[in-house]
Amino acid sequence: VPEIAFLNSAYMPIEDAKISINDRGFVYGDGVYEVMVAYGGHPFRMHQHLQRLKRSAAEIRLALTSSVEEIERVMMEGIERAGFDDTMVYLQFTRGVAPRKHSFPANTKPTFVATFREKPITSEQTRRDGVNLVTIEDLRWGACFVKSIALLPNVLAYQQAQDSEAFEAILHAADGVVHECSVSNIFFVQDGRIVTPAKTNKNLHGITRRAVLDFANDLDIPTSEEAVQLDAILAADEVFLSGTTFEVLGAVKIDDRNIANGTVGPVTQRVAAHFRLTIEQGRYE
Ligand code: PDD
Repeated sequence: VPEIAFLNSAYMPIEDAKISINDRGFVYGDGVYEVMVAYGGHPFRMHQHLQRLKRSAAEIRLALTSSVEEIERVMMEGIERAGFDDTMVYLQFTRGVAPRKHSFPANTKPTFVATFREKPITSEQTRRDGVNLVTIEDLRWGACFVKSIALLPNVLAYQQAQDSEAFEAILHAADGVVHECSVSNIFFVQDGRIVTPAKTNKNLHGITRRAVLDFANDLDIPTSEEAVQLDAILAADEVFLSGTTFEVLGAVKIDDRNIANGTVGPVTQRVAAHFRLTIEQGRYE
């Protein structure tokens, strides 16, 4: 099954989709994006993702040339054309093609790219065994709720995690306040309660994060969104991550130290099972 791209107005094989070296996405990282997963052709929480895309674009003063309904149509047709069981949809808008000058170009249309690839598989072994984390100081800007394509600090943090044979990097402020991870949000469990950092301008307000809080509510597990210190996470009963591509994943080590007894905990397993059930039951929104 081929990977497909949509570029501005047409679908094509991914290798054939080409953009100018003057695209402001290439030159400045001047753009916003979304990643979502379609399970058997059904995008998970699509409207929340598209609302976040609209907000990201508005925050960087990028006028989207496509309506939410048009983007939705491009997505649904792309998913159908690609024909994967589960599809990872990437949407990106940049401020368009113009000679390099920092100020916004006049009369330039944004570049719209979408790609349709197979959803990456998270192995059952990884889900069962859990993953390792490292801690890294968060050096990003003050608008991390914008899903900006300028991801250099995230790329460097994620690579540093991989270099340490860890799956993810916990990004925290110099004073120990935890923001999120480099490509996911973070939760911990203490005395039966699920806790996650409150939404601020230092984290992405994840769609999967919201889903986890909703699922905890369905399961009558108490939750709290609050200021979280690294110490609280290191001393937690359980730690888990949320993100579009892997949903919910337990963590078992931080900087080579076990979290509790170093296994994926029961609350994490309940939330992960509920996630699966929700998809199996076709509750995508
Ligand atoms: N990343 N935090 C950051 C910095 C992220 O980049 C992401 C998602 C998340 C989780 O958000 P959501 O639950 O809405 O996927 C949190 C995407 C998948 C990516 O860049 O590939």
